Amino acid sequence: MTHAMTHSKLSTSVQTAVFPVAGLGTRFLPATKAAPKEMLPVVDKPLIQYAVEEAYAAGIRHMVFVTGRNKRAIEDHFDTAYELENELLANGKDDLLALVRSVQPDDMLCSYVRQPRALGLGHAVLCAEHLTRGQAFAVLLADDLMLGPTGGRPVLAQMVDIFAEHAGSVLAVQEVPQDQVRRYGIVAGEDLGNRLMRVRHLVEKPSPGDAPSRMAVAGRYILTPGIFDCIRNQPRGAQGEIQLTDGIAGLLATEPVHAYQYLGKRFDCGSKLGFLEATVELALDHPEVGEDFRRYLKQLKV
Ligand code: UTP
Repeated sequence: MTHAMTHSKLSTSVQTAVFPVAGLGTRFLPATKAAPKEMLPVVDKPLIQYAVEEAYAAGIRHMVFVTGRNKRAIEDHFDTAYELENELLANGKDDLLALVRSVQPDDMLCSYVRQPRALGLGHAVLCAEHLTRGQAFAVLLADDLMLGPTGGRPVLAQMVDIFAEHAGSVLAVQEVPQDQVRRYGIVAGEDLGNRLMRVRHLVEKPSPGDAPSRMAVAGRYILTPGIFDCIRNQPRGAQGEIQLTDGIAGLLATEPVHAYQYLGKRFDCGSKLGFLEATVELALDHPEVGEDFRRYLKQLKV
């Protein structure tokens, strides 16, 4: 089967999105002791729903969640809540009913696979291999909340456009200040213009002195199936973790990989500060509470 898959024709469209949601979320304890980090709401929507909506807007209809213990709430969120729906229907609350149903559009298919132990992001992606059907797929880390430019295309949709035009995997990157490079995978390579780079080097969390650039990988990827062998064959990283970055570094040797400097803004909602920033900015833009929230912030003595 693997043999046949390797030789099947690669499509230039992206049909599957993988959401690794099996991490422990230690930076958000105690909130994440029993509840998944990805279900933390920014204003009124859980982080994972922002990511799923971004994938859907990019034309993707098959969502694959790599889950772990304590992640049942994610499966329930994307399932029919028929008691709730019946109740809303009976009470004539049509707006809320439409809102609840919109979480799970009819043409969206969700699959779930368990990562039995949090062995790293690369390992989580490997757990989804059999659900990607030998085709390129997207990976979205829900704790990176991405806002597309106002009135423009969402970040993953921009990447799908790049993938359709250029052969090979696509990594979302953004420029970060020098003192922050140690928190990211950093890429370097040839500038192709139009916000695109052919990646030649990828280093995970370099010290500022060793960083080949300030272009940092964000939590959005389009990966070709070649990534799976690269993840399998890489040496174990620090603490035995199987890192996705190491797998991508392996892929560079055999296939073109592009870094795309996306248009839009990223909030690192895996950290408390990033989560608070996202909450404030999205609340200010929220049609229901935005105006009142702005008024409230203005009268705060900070
Ligand atoms: P993070 O590095 O943010 O890890 O993983 P984490 O465990 O969720 O959070 P902290 O650092 O302990 O607070 C990045 C993404 O990869 C997933 C996480 O769910 C998150 O979306 N992940 C990480 C897995 O699915 N499995 C793993 O083994 C590791």
